[in-house]
Amino acid sequence: MTGSDIAVDQPVLLEIFPTGAIVGATRRYEKHLGDMQDVYADNESWVAQVDALGADLLVYSVDEHKYQDGPGALIVGTSKLLPGRYGDEFSITRGHLHAKANRAELYYCLSGRGVMLLDTLDGQSKAIELTPGQAVNVPGGWLHRSVNVGDEPFITLFSYAADAGQNYAVISRAGGMKQLIVADESEQGWRAVENPKHTGYDETDLRS
Ligand SMILES: [Fe+2]
Repeated sequence: MTGSDIAVDQPVLLEIFPTGAIVGATRRYEKHLGDMQDVYADNESWVAQVDALGADLLVYSVDEHKYQDGPGALIVGTSKLLPGRYGDEFSITRGHLHAKANRAELYYCLSGRGVMLLDTLDGQSKAIELTPGQAVNVPGGWLHRSVNVGDEPFITLFSYAADAGQNYAVISRAGGMKQLIVADESEQGWRAVENPKHTGYDETDLRS
């Protein structure tokens, strides 16, 4: 194969700010309070928040840049998760396993204070706190979700393979992730507790 047979994408200069704004982004999406049905363990608290604040309240947003979908390309973006509480549970993203489950992801904290909540389908679970300058290199095979344990937006830079995709159903089928991040009186201000509604994962989700 000669060089002329290979489609080569052009490098792209992006400007990425601690606010999560990206100059050069190709896509933005938003999640609102009404989109978060069955995400929180304490459903009554979520319903009360919808009643009080409205289903249209912005809860998180993602800005990203992607130049193509094929294997080998990267998506680069930012996630901005606003603070909130649902009973004792802190504000979270929906969370997912990559549809191509072996695809890894980098999360680098730009601003705020949060936790990356991570599960494997065979029962491992980790909660890793992130403050600005800290990053988690998430290997393939780990479900992941952001949690905002602070009072400010929790903003991360992420990058993952453009062909990874997202499997959200794996979490809803399991009654949520294995652990919840809840407020407590410690200096840290949070702790991980077992999610009483978690029923275990289906390991066939790892096949893709
Ligand atoms: Fe991901």
